[in-house]
Amino acid sequence: MKKSRPHSEQEGELVVPKSVAVIMDGNGRWAKQAGLERIRGHERGIDAVRTTVTECARLGVEALVLYAFSEENWQRPKREVDMLFRLLKRFLVEERATLMDNRIRLLHSGRRERLAADVLRLLDETIAMTADNDGMRLSLAISYGGRQELVDAMRALARKVAAGDLLPDAIDERAIHAALYHPELPDPDVLIRTAGEQRISNFLLWQVSYAELHVSDVCWPEFGKEHLLAAFRDYGRRVRKFGKVL
Ligand code: FPP
Repeated sequence: MKKSRPHSEQEGELVVPKSVAVIMDGNGRWAKQAGLERIRGHERGIDAVRTTVTECARLGVEALVLYAFSEENWQRPKREVDMLFRLLKRFLVEERATLMDNRIRLLHSGRRERLAADVLRLLDETIAMTADNDGMRLSLAISYGGRQELVDAMRALARKVAAGDLLPDAIDERAIHAALYHPELPDPDVLIRTAGEQRISNFLLWQVSYAELHVSDVCWPEFGKEHLLAAFRDYGRRVRKFGKVL
């Protein structure tokens, strides 16, 4: 790609990535600044989720992964964890029409073990309901950790080796990729993080190897269509070399 002159956030060609991942950060900070309880930030975060999901689907993004609840988030106060899952359950019911209207197929990335039965039931029901949708795939990363995903993948491969179905030397990048939670999803082209933080925080560690990072200064509840478009314009300005010389 091109162009070395400086750009403002408003300038540049909008390039819609095939695959997008988002670390939705700053709900707590937004609430604090507004003099509200942290949970109100998560509540407002749902509106930003709806905007980003529908806008990505409208623009033709093929896959969107949202970091909704990390393995580390289990260490938050029980009250906040309970409230987050209450919101998540509400989302899984109330947004079904939006998912169906936009032909979005829902997936889950993460460990199921610690999820409550009612969360799993709603998740599985919504996944089943949207399974035949042929539009954007939306994966909610819930009880998700990038290292944990790799541990689970290694265990699956080790079981195959132990059963005599896989030779150790046959373990290559393809085999590891195929053992991830959703190998069918394309690796993110762009990883968006809000609230100004410049960290990966254990998100999609294998998959983001060549993702372009876009850090937005706004807190997640304020992240709207204009911020998503700014991220895609920023992406359009990137020169992707994948380690090669162009
Ligand atoms: C980070 O903000 C956000 C989370 C840990 C949870 C994200 C959840 C939502 C946006 C709502 C539910 C999501 C779905 C998909 C229904 P933070 O609490 O770490 O903010 P802080 O760093 O400012 O404290």
